[in-house]
Order: sequence, then structure tokens, then C-alpha cells
Amino acid sequence: MKRDLVSFVDWSAEEIWEVLELGLHLKREQRAGIRHDHILRGKTLAMVFQKPSLRTRVSFEVGMWQLGGCALYLGPEDIKLGQRETVEDVALNLSRYVDGIMARVFGHEIVEELARFATVPVVNGLSDLLHPCQVLADMLTIWEKKRRLSGLTLSFIGDGNNVANSLIEASAKLRIHFRIACPEGHEPSARIVAEARALGAEIEILRDPKQAAQDADVLYTDVWTSMGQEAEAEIRRQKFRGYTVDLDLLSLAKPEALVMHCLPAHYGEEITYEAARSKNSVIFDQAENRLHAQKAVLALLLGGKV
Ligand code: CP
Ligand code: NVA
Repeated sequence: MKRDLVSFVDWSAEEIWEVLELGLHLKREQRAGIRHDHILRGKTLAMVFQKPSLRTRVSFEVGMWQLGGCALYLGPEDIKLGQRETVEDVALNLSRYVDGIMARVFGHEIVEELARFATVPVVNGLSDLLHPCQVLADMLTIWEKKRRLSGLTLSFIGDGNNVANSLIEASAKLRIHFRIACPEGHEPSARIVAEARALGAEIEILRDPKQAAQDADVLYTDVWTSMGQEAEAEIRRQKFRGYTVDLDLLSLAKPEALVMHCLPAHYGEEITYEAARSKNSVIFDQAENRLHAQKAVLALLLGGKV
């Protein structure tokens, strides 16, 4: 049976931990000079992008190379998913050539449809609803720095977007307390919050960033305007005023709190440059851990011999 990573809904805590443990193992071995190019030798990953990317594209492509396979970049103009041909036909064609598909899409239903019709594993490289690969890297980063996940408080400041939704899904499985401070109308998905609460998760939805930041172990933020929402950028800039992670907000969190951001950042909006470069910031560790966490995902889903 092929396994996909579209969301964490059908992933158990044990399976998420397997990725984190393998990701850390691969990271440590790589640092010690051990090569892993036997793991996916001869395997190929198609990377389908409807939106721009730095980290996702580079970390998946480099990751496949380091595991001995190769990755094909298919940009927005190459495939025109759902325009030139149907998502179903793209999934069926790609499945005849490659061993796995990673897709960054607008509507979440597009990556769901790819997974439904592809006969090879499909990995969600970001949809309007979710960003699970980012959150695996984030969990690896928090675990490395704090030596645990369960019982920590992660406070998200800003838009209840794809990154926030995936953080909620993962936090529910890994027993992290999740808080968000967001303006009215920008809450995370009500369905995802309800499903997380049904698993027993502690999710707080607040308006006041200061209340959210109080004694937090992790202060997390992301852009106010996600890809695809550019027409709303100005109105969002007004609505989110005050939802900035700066050194004052950081001073309310625990002294060793981590400052996190999935990047790209808009300095002076959701985060100040000073907070992003403070000693608490782990934003470039998160970016690096995309590589290690995703190599673990690829090894596990594409059937590599570790
Ligand atoms: N964090 C992240 O997914 O970055 P990119 O959009 O550059 O891939
Ligand atoms: N929420 C952002 C994340 C970018 C990695 C977006 O969707 O644009």
C-alpha cells in the first residue's frame, strides 16, 4: 500500500516520531561525513509547483540527490495542472515515470486528487490549507532545541493560515499546547481545530498577542499575506497591525523561548529583523531541517533502504 503525506490526519504520533528520529539520524550522520546515496539510488521524484518556492524546491531537490535519486522541477508553466489536462491525468501519467510526486498547489483538493489517482506516494509541499513538510522540520527543530515536544506551549502570532493549520494538526498528535493570537476572521480552519480538540488537544484562540506570548516556549509567526492572497495585501497590513513578533513581545515569553518563522519573512510586518536575528531565533535551523526531515519522509515513503 502506498503512503502519502497530504496532511497529518492519517499519520499517528508514532509515524511522525519515526520521521523525526530518522531525520535527526540522517542529519547527524551527514555531519559526520557519512553518505546516504544508497537509500534512493535510481529513484525519481517529480516536483510540481503552482506557486514560487526557495526552501521547498531546493531542499527536496538536494535531498533526492543526497539520497542517490534525482528530482525533476515542473514549474507553473510546465504542466498547468487542471488547465492543460486534468489533475487525474497528470497523476496517472507521472505515476508511469517517477517513484514519487511532491506538489505545491493552490486548492488543497488538488493535492488530495493527485494522491487519490497517483499510484506512487504524493507529498504535500504546501497547499492553501496545509504545509505538513514545514511542520515536520519545525517539530525536528523544537525537539533538537528543547529535547522534548510533549507539554510545550507553542504560540502562533498572526494569520490562521496553512502553516498554522498544520501546526495544529501536529501539535494535537504530539501533545503540544497550541495558542494563536489572530484578528477576527483570520482564525485557523474550524474543522481542523475541532478535530484537534476531539483528540484531546488544548487549542486556545485569542485576540491579544501579549496574552498568547505569555510564558510561551515557542513564538511562531508567518506572513500576513500568503501566496495567492496578494490582492488583499494592503487590507491585511491594516488588519494585522500589532501582530508583530518583536523584542517586546519576546520578553513576555519564557527566557529560552524559540522564535520561529517558516520563511520567507517580511521584516517590519509579522516579525522585526531584530527578533528574527535574536539569540532566541531558530529560523535558519528550521530552514535547514526541511532538508533532513524531508529526506526521512522520502526514504520512508519511497521505500528506501536506510
Ligand atoms: N517555508 C517554505 O515553504 O519556503 P518556500 O516557499 O521558499 O518553499
Ligand atoms: N503561509 C505562507 C507560507 C509560505 C511558505 C504562504 O502560503 O505563502
